[in-house]
Amino acid sequence: MNTTTAMSLQDAVYEKYQELFDHTPLLVRSPGRVNLIGEHTDYNNGLVLPAAIDKNIVLAIGKRDDHAVHLHSLDQNQTYSTALDELVRSPLLWPDYILGVAQQLTKRGYTLQGFNIVFGGDIPQGAGLSSSAALECATGFALNELFNLGITRLDLALTAQAAENEFVGVKCGLMDQFASVFGQKQRLIKLDCADFSHEYIPFNNPELRIVLFDTQVKHSLASSAYNERREQCEYGVSLIQKHHFEVKSLRDATLEQLDRYVRPVDEVVYNRCSYVVSEIKRLQDGCDDLKRDDFESFGKRMFETHDGLQHLYEVSCEELDILVDLVRNNDAVLGARMMGGGFGGCTINLVKASEVDRVVKEVGEAYTEKTHKKTQAYVANISEGTARLN
Ligand code: GLA
Repeated sequence: MNTTTAMSLQDAVYEKYQELFDHTPLLVRSPGRVNLIGEHTDYNNGLVLPAAIDKNIVLAIGKRDDHAVHLHSLDQNQTYSTALDELVRSPLLWPDYILGVAQQLTKRGYTLQGFNIVFGGDIPQGAGLSSSAALECATGFALNELFNLGITRLDLALTAQAAENEFVGVKCGLMDQFASVFGQKQRLIKLDCADFSHEYIPFNNPELRIVLFDTQVKHSLASSAYNERREQCEYGVSLIQKHHFEVKSLRDATLEQLDRYVRPVDEVVYNRCSYVVSEIKRLQDGCDDLKRDDFESFGKRMFETHDGLQHLYEVSCEELDILVDLVRNNDAVLGARMMGGGFGGCTINLVKASEVDRVVKEVGEAYTEKTHKKTQAYVANISEGTARLN
């Protein structure tokens, strides 16, 4: 976010809070994320390579003397009220990301009292940039500060993920929440989802930019298909486990084991699992490329990831495939692929900095010609994770 946008969003949230609740709130922000490579690997105990970006949720919070919870979304211009002992799903979707986190904290034994929240953001919604994870992380971080709960950053990310899994009902992995909380400027996070160990990999080549092309579509089967993919991966593991007890997740599995124990039983499950096993290896090789500054090779792996997501994991869609195909033979684009859960949202592209304007224009025109839809392009700058603003 550039400073002007950051300031005006922050001001707008602050002013609305004062107008509604008439006291000075605590302010936090939490960012959306990109993921360079390692897609659908997090819930398979694999590795991911996300980074926080310069688009945020800004949230104002303050204590109440009772057990009521009053929420206001600036973007939806909606208010929702409930009480701490009635934390159930709301008829509106957005309060659930906040209520789910409060419920998880209570479940973990933390004592809360009533609170007011006003929030807004500039993370495009439904674009696969994890605006919901950012809202969950902003909420957890803000409640932690407000009530001095002493929760670590890792536990905040895990609490936010649990809210999404158990309250919202999407069985996501840890990537989005971890990236939002642990982001650092100009650094990618190589996160090992098996034990949450992580290292930062610098990403600050002035000659390259991360450009996102938003399909502007979100197909309705996204969350049910997501949960189904996760079940298919677990089923694949169970087939191997009958012969190799030590294989607890696809992280431990080999392509040979999949060939032997999964392929004869279920070809579709085999395809899903072989994509994941190859993607975990691809990420490790991709990180070696980055450490050698070999962006050409890294970019080729991004295209390979897309091919696997399109044909084996089958979470792409026509619009995403068109956006990737439009840049496949463009010398200014080193790599591109669909990003996030799939079925819509954005592609992530590694583009030569000097060519960004031209690529954005050409891709925009060609996408409209082919789909009769408009794409929106964003240049993502890698930024700091969740923080207090006052
Ligand atoms: C969504 C989920 C993440 C991850 C990605 C796919 O963003 O929230 O946990 O699984 O999809 O890599």
